[in-house]
Amino acid sequence: MTRKPLIAGNWKMNATHLEAIQMVQKLSYRLDPDDYERVDVAVFPAFTALRSAQTVIETDHLAISLGAQDVDWRAQGAFTGAVSAPMLAALGVRFVIVGHSERRAVFGDTEAEVGKKTRAVVEGGMTPIVAVGESLEQRDAGHTTSVITSQLRAGVKGLESDAVARSVIAYEPVWAIGTGRTADPDTASEAIAALRDEIASSHGDGAAAAVRILYGGSVNPGNIAAFMAKRQIDGALVGGASLDPDQFAAVIRYWI
Ligand code: PGA
Repeated sequence: MTRKPLIAGNWKMNATHLEAIQMVQKLSYRLDPDDYERVDVAVFPAFTALRSAQTVIETDHLAISLGAQDVDWRAQGAFTGAVSAPMLAALGVRFVIVGHSERRAVFGDTEAEVGKKTRAVVEGGMTPIVAVGESLEQRDAGHTTSVITSQLRAGVKGLESDAVARSVIAYEPVWAIGTGRTADPDTASEAIAALRDEIASSHGDGAAAAVRILYGGSVNPGNIAAFMAKRQIDGALVGGASLDPDQFAAVIRYWI
């Protein structure tokens, strides 16, 4: 089973729609058709920039996928400030991050809500990127595997095996996000292997072999190759380094 690598740029709360247009264009100038053959590339602008990014991607026929950073699990109704999966799907969004640690820690997203969001994304015909990760205290207490497998179980609860096979999981240790401190590739690979085992027992060996599992947390052009050298690691969810098109392109072209 070969899994095509995915390099996903999570822009978080950065970039107006005008800046997003430039970022997508600049990224595209730095990539060539071979790069897209080897790697799936996706960018995750803020909600306000999705329409503009979509327009650039479609007008210039770019092989860059559009992603959203979050979603509400309800389809519509009196939920001020919320954005639903059908709204994202209508913008050509292909990937949606659910359960990012900033959503869990800052906005209080619970494991049960993350599961509902994942199901809403799948029902909307899009691909969820289910983010899981342990805090430093949890790691130091030796609880990494139990924390991340519990988050994963809740995140994919109720999904059919073929939906899990097409999904993406991102292992992002909380202490590595935005800190400049990465997990070492062996440690990340072990955690990812534990996540794959969890999928094997919950959804079968076929889903476990097919699901793409990314590493995230302070990925940059200097460290990406060491992660990609690990058989278990199928790509990266990149925050800070995805804001600079030069750096993000260098991460995408990790073999160079
Ligand atoms: P970072 O963020 O690359 O800035 O550490 C990763 C993420 O939060 O997805």
